Amino acid sequence: MRKATGLVVLIAIALTITGVGFTMATEPNTQHPKIDAFKMNQLLGRGVNMGNALDAPSEGEWGFTLEEKYFQAAKDAGFDSVRIPVRWSAHALKESPYTIDPNFMKRVDWAVNCALSRKLPVMLNVHHYLELFSDPNTHRERFLALWEQIAEHYKDYPEILILEPLNEPTGKLGTKEWNSLLKQAITVIRKSNPDRVIVIASAWSNTIDNLKWLEIPKDERNIIVSVHCYDPLEFTHQGASWVTDHDSNAWLGTKWTGTDSQKKAVTNKFDIAVAWSKQNNRPINLGEFGSFNKADMDSRARYTKFFADAAVERGFSFHYWQFDSDFAVYDVQTNTWIKPLLEALIPPKQK
Ligand code: BGC
Repeated sequence: MRKATGLVVLIAIALTITGVGFTMATEPNTQHPKIDAFKMNQLLGRGVNMGNALDAPSEGEWGFTLEEKYFQAAKDAGFDSVRIPVRWSAHALKESPYTIDPNFMKRVDWAVNCALSRKLPVMLNVHHYLELFSDPNTHRERFLALWEQIAEHYKDYPEILILEPLNEPTGKLGTKEWNSLLKQAITVIRKSNPDRVIVIASAWSNTIDNLKWLEIPKDERNIIVSVHCYDPLEFTHQGASWVTDHDSNAWLGTKWTGTDSQKKAVTNKFDIAVAWSKQNNRPINLGEFGSFNKADMDSRARYTKFFADAAVERGFSFHYWQFDSDFAVYDVQTNTWIKPLLEALIPPKQK
């Protein structure tokens, strides 16, 4: 409450004591946000990651630059929302006060507005803060300073912009370290955004098995919990060069035919998330799933459809990884959708 309202409060108390009704009409009602986390999760619906652009070391370096027409294409195809991954850590001062490059901020704004102006809710995150994973103690302060700036910058944006503190915490940012940093990040965001939905995840790369270790401040209701699932890695990451702990080339040729045991492996995983969600009364977003383009297309389409349907049946929202490049549902060279994947994600309308 603002200072100037002190006198008003005194009058209100006096009027209440004397039995005269009084309403403080000018104060915005911040107690009851219009869209709560469950409703927001419904609005996220079936979404897509606009990945490999603003999350690359610099946009374009990974062969993809965002354009307005891609947001329009996503909207026209029937996607309900987008997730915009952003590597803020590559565009801010290394030393205090860790100022974010204003030109980069403008570029992110442009992307966010491309979605919001089309009424596509946006999940905006901090992506690929690799230095934080290898040295959390040194980068803790910088990470929180980035969030202070991002949250302040977006505080007046529509409520369909939601904020995700960190993609796939991992490395030395283990369960204990992440739970503690997450609490601080939420506190920082809440200073300027008391009601905005925040999307959080467990340590160890948003994995469902680690949900049980995730700590959420009890009084924080406006929270969606996001999980990522690329099981089985032998299929989804066959030939992916960034898999370092296995020889992913040895997985080339792995298919996903949808056998009972393949399906069960997925639904058993998802049902762990359902049980956790019920027990903790939190909505679930499947923030990443998908398969690398070295897998055969029939398997990819089958796999994608099974994931999307299984998520929706369980009340999860989802964001397919990803719009463009190597896991692409859209071919940016020909400006056309990769039909089998698109139809797996967005069921074609019955004629
Ligand atoms: C990473 C991407 C990667 C994808 C699949 C994402 O979290 O940001 O770079 O392609 O996972 O491995």
